Amino acid sequence: MQLSLLENSTPTLNVENRMKELRTLLEYHNRRYYQLDAPEITDAEYDDLFRELSALEERYPELLTADSPTQRIGGAPGGRFRTVTHQLPMLSLENATNDEEIRAKLDQRVKKELGLAESAPVAYMCEPKMDGLAVELLYEQGVLTVASTRGDGITGEDVTQNIRTLRGLPLRLSGDDIPALLEVRGEVYLSLAAFQKINADKEENGEPPFANPRNAAAGSLRQLDSRVTARRPLSFFCYAPGRVQGAEFSSQQDFLNRVAAWGVPVNPLTRLVESVDGAVAYYHEMQQQRELLPYEIDGTVVKVDSFLLQRELGEKSRSPLWAIACKFPPRQAETQLEDILLSVGRTGVITPVAQLRPVVISGVTVSRATLHNWDELAAKDIRIGDTVVVERAGDVIPAVVRVIAERRSGSERSVLPPQVCPECGSPVVRIEGEVALRCMGISCPSQLRESIKHFASRGAMDIEGLGDKVVEQLLSLGLVHTVADLYRLTKDDFMRFERMGDKLASNLLGALEVSKACELARFIFALGIRHVGERTAKALAQAFGSLDHLEKATVEELVSVRDIGATVAQSIFTFLNNQDNRTVISQLRELGVNPAAVAKTVGGRLNGKNFVFTGSLTRFSRDGARKLVEDQGGNVVGSVSRKTDYVVAGDDAGSKLIKARELGINIISEEDFLDLLGTP
Ligand code: IVH
Repeated sequence: MQLSLLENSTPTLNVENRMKELRTLLEYHNRRYYQLDAPEITDAEYDDLFRELSALEERYPELLTADSPTQRIGGAPGGRFRTVTHQLPMLSLENATNDEEIRAKLDQRVKKELGLAESAPVAYMCEPKMDGLAVELLYEQGVLTVASTRGDGITGEDVTQNIRTLRGLPLRLSGDDIPALLEVRGEVYLSLAAFQKINADKEENGEPPFANPRNAAAGSLRQLDSRVTARRPLSFFCYAPGRVQGAEFSSQQDFLNRVAAWGVPVNPLTRLVESVDGAVAYYHEMQQQRELLPYEIDGTVVKVDSFLLQRELGEKSRSPLWAIACKFPPRQAETQLEDILLSVGRTGVITPVAQLRPVVISGVTVSRATLHNWDELAAKDIRIGDTVVVERAGDVIPAVVRVIAERRSGSERSVLPPQVCPECGSPVVRIEGEVALRCMGISCPSQLRESIKHFASRGAMDIEGLGDKVVEQLLSLGLVHTVADLYRLTKDDFMRFERMGDKLASNLLGALEVSKACELARFIFALGIRHVGERTAKALAQAFGSLDHLEKATVEELVSVRDIGATVAQSIFTFLNNQDNRTVISQLRELGVNPAAVAKTVGGRLNGKNFVFTGSLTRFSRDGARKLVEDQGGNVVGSVSRKTDYVVAGDDAGSKLIKARELGINIISEEDFLDLLGTP
């Protein structure tokens, strides 16, 4: 008797243990993904675990628990922001990974549920699946009042302040028949260019970079300081309604068209197809287009177009029956790490780079991958000879995600950070608070090479033809030791190059000549001052008007420029007061480089007046306000000081308002501000 009981219960006991294990694992990976933005396993691996648990729960329904990850919609919110409850839960989607699954899991199921013949055509809306993070925006009487992240699908985080910094998003809807209440859902994402720039800046500042654009978007949106978010050019595409009062939409197409007409961004690549064949074709087309898009997509989403049919189909615990996510194959691959090389950047940062056994990842052969920095190398315990997972995640250079430790033979070798620069032998230092190692050699050839490339690059002096190959030759012939030397080059110098014709040499000299009359902002950016990107360079050019004025600027004056904090101000000051740099700048001038001073708007209504904007603004965006002020000759500054002339306070204004009161500064409303401008 006892024996048979044991025999019966043993398999269930094992199953029960496995289910418990799967629940714990999934919860753990959910947290890594949703809360820490630092997943440890691939989506496919996560899906496998999830599927295994779902299958077991289906087979042993008595073992299903209320706290199972299959019973909820994602991860819990981070808890730093106020929480917002979604009035209608934000669902997620079931996945298909090939044509057959799109047909079986969507089209056949839809027809079965609706009692339609297999041959009956159902119209679907096809959309790119944006790889960002889902948010919900509430527009009341057409005004954006609350923005929240998806969170666990039931409650998310209040990111209203941060969402307001998205330039492409209307703070107020425009046009006709605007509903009294409209919730729209969509994806916040970062363009690849923006992602790459953020990571370049991070690396430059010795901070660990983001692993992919999705993490960068999430990290940027979930900033407690919305000024940081404002500097990250996040974008938004709307893809679904939430609650609606005062409007009726008949279909997804109708919805997308109407919100687009009210000013909400909708992805122009969405397409209505008349049957599932069209949806499959769209999936293939997008897979091709994926490499050309300026942002990351990880698949397509196909939705039954008619809202009537959507309602009839309804949803199953976690996802709607009327939609499916058609995922692209992962852009990851396994390969052997053959060596760890050292690369020295423009500012002397020494980065470990993996040399890989070439592997094809979605059509592109990958043989190099960044390892980001030495801390990461140590944390991931990456060794020469390891089998590694490599990912192409929107970065120009692919990244090593992790090591497959089970494949180790024991002959793998760890690499220690270098003590001296591999290019010039100078000592290497680690600046406090930074993860980066830097070469301190003033005449390090790698730094020189990178700074010349930067100087000539498109966003900087834009010297056409002065690309990597030309720079390499200039250095190897010893023709250039500082950027000023570029303007001393003669035709004969260029003619010493391999494969250099008369015409090419003339063009290069012409391009150098043209660059002498560059804009001041470009020149400032070209100098390669740490922390000074294009945006900061523009702000400096605008604030100081000439190179002369900028060179004489004090740290206090630099800090009062918009978006410039203490660290950046100090970095600019140190750079401009370094004797070597001063020499190069004066040589550049002597050689005829004369950056065009930007004329400050004088005589405007707000001439010379300093404005601070605080609290949530509803009549205009921060950027719009800045433009209005600057157009009339005024300045917008980040913090309140005695020099501030006006503080424009929106709702929920905090410490800046208090400080303004203390200092007795004019505090005005948004309406007063518009009056000041003379705008009706
Ligand atoms: S529709 C009930 N459409 O994919 C419908 N989602 O796994 C809910 N996503 O959380 C989503 N692009 O973050 C939809 N065009 C699109 C999408 C999209 C990206 C994301 C979204 C959602 C996840 C679903």
